[in-house]
Amino acid sequence: MSTTTDLLNVRDAAVQRRSIRAFEPLPIPREDLDGILDVVRLAPSAFNVQPWRFVIVEAPELKAQLAAAAFNQRQVHSAPAVIVLYSDMQDALATLDETIHPGMNAVQRATTRQTILRSFQAQSPDEREAWGAAQAHIALGYLLLAAEAHGYQTSPMAGFDAEAVKRLLNLPENARVPALVAIGRGTEEGFPHHRHALERIARAA
Ligand SMILES: Cc1cc2nc3c(=O)[nH]c(=O)nc-3n(C[C@H](O)[C@H](O)[C@H](O)COP(=O)(O)O)c2cc1C
Repeated sequence: MSTTTDLLNVRDAAVQRRSIRAFEPLPIPREDLDGILDVVRLAPSAFNVQPWRFVIVEAPELKAQLAAAAFNQRQVHSAPAVIVLYSDMQDALATLDETIHPGMNAVQRATTRQTILRSFQAQSPDEREAWGAAQAHIALGYLLLAAEAHGYQTSPMAGFDAEAVKRLLNLPENARVPALVAIGRGTEEGFPHHRHALERIARAA
């Protein structure tokens, strides 16, 4: 288990992180996974709706089925755990009472609830779910950094058959699956960062 003193800071985690696709076959202690996801759940989202949900797949038989749905990418076979990140806007909007800030009074809560629901009224279910998946990508970023900070390596994946993953894990029909994340102790180095220079992507205006 990691203690707060041996966690990497954000910059070090970002510099050190690479996609890793081969792992030691060691199970991840539950408290480590919980420690990582406990950071991830702090990610921000629009209206604070927090539409992200996680399924942790460790059982070998289920993981093999998940690998088949992910075009047999080697990291799914190799990792001791794969975190399936999905978003569920139906659940998020049906349970706004859980996410609207308790610091608000009853009138403010009712108004906020109405504002949020109204903003989705004009959207099709498809648009609403795409919006939820975009929010869930914020949690994905947190997850990759938090795992690295806790001493674990990851491989984020968008290469999978989302409908097959949903069927396999009995996810709700409306759910979107932005990513699978293979996680464990890496046994390869991965590729050095190859990124745009800051001047190429940011400018003062
Ligand atoms: C949302 C997302 C989806 C990705 N999907 C895959 C994938 O399906 N298979 C794969 O091998 N790598 C996948 N990658 C890894 C990228 O190729 C990798 O992050 C990128 O090349 C940068 O390299 P690095 O992660 O080692 O820094 C994905 C990365 C992200 C963020």
